[in-house]
Amino acid sequence: MTQPTIKIALVGAGMFGGDVHLRAYADLQRFGIAGQLARVGLDKFSRDLAPVKFELVAVATRSEKSAKRAAEEFLRITSYASRAYFGDEPWHDILRDFPDLDVLAVATPDHLHTQPILAALAKGVHVLTEKPMCLTTAEADQIIEAARAKNRIVAVDMHKRYDPDHLRIRDDIQKRIGAPLYGTAFLEEPLEVSTSTFKWVESSDPFSYVGPHWTDLIYSYYRAKPVSLTAVGQKKRLVRDGINAYDAVQVRVDFDNGMSINFHNNWITPPDFEGPVNQGHEIVGADGKVESDQQYRGFRWWNKGGGSRTSNNHFTRDVLRADGTRAYVGYGVDSLTVGLVAVCRVKFAGETRDAVAHLYPTAEEARITCAIVDAAARVRDLNFKYLAEGKGATVTARFGKDGITICDPNRANEGADKVFQCIYDKAI
Ligand SMILES: NC(=O)c1ccc[n+]([C@@H]2O[C@H](COP(=O)([O-])OP(=O)(O)OC[C@H]3O[C@@H](n4cnc5c(N)ncnc54)[C@H](O)[C@@H]3O)[C@@H](O)[C@H]2O)c1
Repeated sequence: MTQPTIKIALVGAGMFGGDVHLRAYADLQRFGIAGQLARVGLDKFSRDLAPVKFELVAVATRSEKSAKRAAEEFLRITSYASRAYFGDEPWHDILRDFPDLDVLAVATPDHLHTQPILAALAKGVHVLTEKPMCLTTAEADQIIEAARAKNRIVAVDMHKRYDPDHLRIRDDIQKRIGAPLYGTAFLEEPLEVSTSTFKWVESSDPFSYVGPHWTDLIYSYYRAKPVSLTAVGQKKRLVRDGINAYDAVQVRVDFDNGMSINFHNNWITPPDFEGPVNQGHEIVGADGKVESDQQYRGFRWWNKGGGSRTSNNHFTRDVLRADGTRAYVGYGVDSLTVGLVAVCRVKFAGETRDAVAHLYPTAEEARITCAIVDAAARVRDLNFKYLAEGKGATVTARFGKDGITICDPNRANEGADKVFQCIYDKAI
């Protein structure tokens, strides 16, 4: 009898795909998924899924050199030779060469998710994508429609949901603190990503890049939808290096449950900072407050020449095995695991995507974040322009049954249709 198998191809193997995805798939390739399941409350599937074999059949990047490097790294860890692909749209070659592919994992730059996702769905291939699923609400609709038409999973890598502290907040503490009033969520990335690692900073911004972690987390707690937002951004540091991108973006979103959350993101933290990123959130409720510092968790060391450092061992950590290799566990892997469980349930148990939707962060849920990212980018650009003209930051966006409307009081003398511009006309 042939062994049940899930064939995966990874597009994008840079800082994140080449590290977190690649290592997660290497462990799956060697030992399967059963050992990961109790971490995400899905151990009832452990026996069923223990025999499933996972194969990373292909890895693709933009350049031949990086594709080969990723395939070689995978070979080194697993002794399994994945095929290396490269180019502008290497997913087409993969989908052609592997007609029995089960999952396309997408870890390309933020603005390059939609194309491989739609190409995979068109061929009936499930998708595991990095956040943000896409940058516009209209693209999110296209993805959802294609996934529904083909009964395929689009799982979005929203790992903050699986941070043990956040699970505790979702399942327990948010009920203790009462109705949420307001909160702040911040994620500050190192200067290195915007000035050296990413070649695509000018096609994204700090909020589109890392804000989705928090908008999704807040959604996972309260299932509340946005009703309005305002956004501003600054360009002072990266322009010094000739990069025309926002240093930082701040977005305030008001939700239909009455709460108001501020999201603060940047990618200009100097290298002297003690941790890889600075991040955390806090929520004030009618009957209490929760604070969660995701960066400094009480673990810190310093040594001569090394400065004072912290580390978040919850995200991913290496666990030494007796054979000298290292298992890779943490909430960074958990969010990939849940999507793959959903794929296995559809493939091996014949379940529909609706029946497994509760198992993983879905495209429908990601659409809420895409709508926020989409509107925030437009509001931020208008406010940036008006601030430079000395007119303040008065532009906002409204969400509702009639879609998304940009409200720009600076255009009052042009008529109401210019003040209220509909950028999306379906209910959010
Ligand atoms: N979940 C998380 O915590 C997390 C963390 C970092 C990045 N990300 C997301 O992962 C994605 C990738 O980020 P990164 O940090 O790895 O970026 P990166 O710039 O380090 O890597 C991008 C990768 O995509 C490849 N690529 C670029 N254009 C391509 C094309 N046309 N076809 C195929 N491959 C192409 C590059 O060769 C590279 O391998 C982004 O969407 C980012 O937001 C998520």
